[in-house]
Amino acid sequence: MTGIGILGAGNISESYLSRAPLFAGIEVRAVADLDPARAAARAETFGVRAETVEGLLAAPDIDIVVNLTVPTAHHAVTCAILEAGKHAYSEKPLALTLADARDIAARADRAGRRVGCAPDTFLGASHQESRRLIDAGAVGRIVHGTCHVMSAGMEGWHPNPDFFFQAGGGPILDLGAYYVTQLINLIGPVTRVAAMTGTGAATRTIGSGARAGETITVEIPTTAHALLEFASGATVTLGASWDVQAHGHRNVELYGTEGTIAPQDPNFFGGTTEVIRPGGAVERFDAADHPLSVANRTTNDGAPRADYRTVGLADMAEAIRGGRPHRCALEMALHVTEVLEGILTSGEQGRFVTMATTCDRPAALDAEAARALMRADPVPA
Ligand SMILES: NC(=O)c1ccc[n+]([C@@H]2O[C@H](COP(=O)([O-])OP(=O)(O)OC[C@H]3O[C@@H](n4cnc5c(N)ncnc54)[C@H](O)[C@@H]3O)[C@@H](O)[C@H]2O)c1
Repeated sequence: MTGIGILGAGNISESYLSRAPLFAGIEVRAVADLDPARAAARAETFGVRAETVEGLLAAPDIDIVVNLTVPTAHHAVTCAILEAGKHAYSEKPLALTLADARDIAARADRAGRRVGCAPDTFLGASHQESRRLIDAGAVGRIVHGTCHVMSAGMEGWHPNPDFFFQAGGGPILDLGAYYVTQLINLIGPVTRVAAMTGTGAATRTIGSGARAGETITVEIPTTAHALLEFASGATVTLGASWDVQAHGHRNVELYGTEGTIAPQDPNFFGGTTEVIRPGGAVERFDAADHPLSVANRTTNDGAPRADYRTVGLADMAEAIRGGRPHRCALEMALHVTEVLEGILTSGEQGRFVTMATTCDRPAALDAEAARALMRADPVPA
């Protein structure tokens, strides 16, 4: 059993604390936050211990510390976790710059400890089904594609949305990681990027929670149109924006020599993959035999949703115990960091940015491999 400590008891910690019990080899034992009251509240709700940050890092029963702090703190906190002799699993982004991501990698190497990084949504049944179809040649060779991750922004629902609009936030760093990671899962690493970026509004108004009505300043681009060239030869456009009130684009379409595949939104785990044949006939694939296809919760508006955040952490814990590479790999997170940084750099400087890093595609997580990570088959909500 691998002991888990949660560092950062904000919004997303609820997901980790509620999902971790689905997985066989991990046990969340403690939670800590700069704000002890937040840690205490989460600890009470989920029946784990509250620790100080220092106490969590020193705790002998904790093997992996999960970094759920705000993006600007990710580098320093992950370094502190490694310094304490623990393995680190970070929410995305791994770091705000490639230089900081490389620093984490060097420290992990020196410490002989692992680093894993979200997103783990690409391990969802839907995305693994898309991958199975692509690998089986269902649409031939992927030549190009389009991705759209566009909304009006995050200030409407998140009670403390400041970080989304500061360095380290924005749709590219916040949401681009889901898309780039999924594209690496499906078609492999990126070789170069180009982009145009812009900012739709200088301020945003918080729409929920205790600070509703408060105005915050936007410090980063909130719209990016990026071009990605892959080592496979494929080219993909990625439109990421928080300046869109409504649209009709699919999240992802990949165009193959023999058809088109439409995987689901990589921000989530589940849903149907569509294959569109020449002439327009549509085939739908639900991966119903995959345990991570089960809709195990309902959204605020009552829609069923498969949500298996922590599967990447469970896979890393199992990989450490078994001495194999973990799927949410440090090398992939480094590469994703460089791709996202390259998009922002290209937007600022108006030039193509060639990647210095690369990575392998993560191993597929088929139904059997997913089941092996779980305590029991998930129960529909
Ligand atoms: N909220 C979501 O839906 C969501 C989804 C996916 C990923 N994420 C990622 O998870 C991370 C956290 O997001 P969130 O929404 O939970 O943020 P949040 O602001 O709600 O919570 C962050 C918490 O980290 C604590 N913190 C900040 N610096 C710290 C430090 N140095 N040491 C200890 N604690 C520290 C804060 O006190 C706060 O409680 C971000 O990287 C975000 O990108 C969030």
